[in-house]
Amino acid sequence: MHKKLWIPGPTEVKEEVLNQQAKYLVGHRSNDFTLLYDSILTQLKSFFKTEQHITVLTASGTIFMDISGRNLIRPGKKAICCVNGSFSDRMHKAIVGCGFEADRIDVEWGHAIKPEMIREMLEKNDYDILTMCHNETSTGVKANLKEISDVLKDYPETLLVVDAVSSMAGDLLLPEEMGTDLLFASSQKCFALPPGLAVGIVSQRALDRAKEVPNKGLYTDLIGIFSYYEKKKQTPSTPNISLLYAMDYKLKELLTEGAENVAKRHKEMADYTHEWALSHGFGLFAEEGYRSVTVTTVANKLEKDVNELNKALGEKGLIIANGYGKLKNQTFRIGHMGDHTLDDLKELLKAIEEIWNL
Ligand SMILES: Cc1ncc(COP(=O)(O)O)c(C=O)c1O
Repeated sequence: MHKKLWIPGPTEVKEEVLNQQAKYLVGHRSNDFTLLYDSILTQLKSFFKTEQHITVLTASGTIFMDISGRNLIRPGKKAICCVNGSFSDRMHKAIVGCGFEADRIDVEWGHAIKPEMIREMLEKNDYDILTMCHNETSTGVKANLKEISDVLKDYPETLLVVDAVSSMAGDLLLPEEMGTDLLFASSQKCFALPPGLAVGIVSQRALDRAKEVPNKGLYTDLIGIFSYYEKKKQTPSTPNISLLYAMDYKLKELLTEGAENVAKRHKEMADYTHEWALSHGFGLFAEEGYRSVTVTTVANKLEKDVNELNKALGEKGLIIANGYGKLKNQTFRIGHMGDHTLDDLKELLKAIEEIWNL
């Protein structure tokens, strides 16, 4: 039996979206492909109300961590990485893996990094990029990007790189308003698509920086990617055309719903889940005021058996996620992202109540 995915990615993909991938292929150097790719980029620009540059790569979202390290840091310069969970830690690893020094601002998991912590570091050192995870999928913490980019206004050499893998197309993210220079995500989260595509929204400042940086690789060269698009309106190498069909279809749905309504639906699901957790004796792992709208990390104060729960949920065709890494069993996670609705969520939570006799 298929288990409906209430995990924070990959998320549930509707049959009609899955079926888009079964269409006959076109050549990636054909006019048909250009029309498809152009339609996707136009819709993304419209959904995110942005004039920034957008690309869709055939890769998972992590590729943009390497892209940040290879394109946005000049030789001899360094990065500052905000780390408050597993994915923000991964970003730090990627930058170091690209051969750069990267300082860290670490806070305890479950907490958010505050603007004054960033200002303190930027006062002491020059950094080419500051990395942030907008929505820490391991902890359910959401960053306040606006307050952070307001600090960066005083440090114009420091570009803001944001991992929005598990929030883009769920939470409201407007690159210009939030002052991001590279904002990226994967297809398998709030876009409610299969994994395999990565969306990157890049400011002109970031592209100008990439022009100054050597050794960008080939697949990860932002200048190569965007200049190929400028010339040919296509991608430099063969993309996953089947998935792009699905993305084109899905974006039409997202635009029909509208970015604000999508965000409202996610917020309603998050609020309901928070209220449910607290009223049944659980806690919320994420700090108040910084809670994700796409994933709730529930503090398992009642010490319930999450694996047993998932076995029982599986018989009802449902699945949630255990805590991430060291948070296993101490927490469990409900991914209310993508196509899910409040009514579906109520059914899931009712099923949990029945299984655990809450
Ligand atoms: C916040 C965050 N960043 C990065 C990743 C990695 O994304 P991908 O697996 O698409 O490379 C994930 C995956 O769960 C994530 O949740």
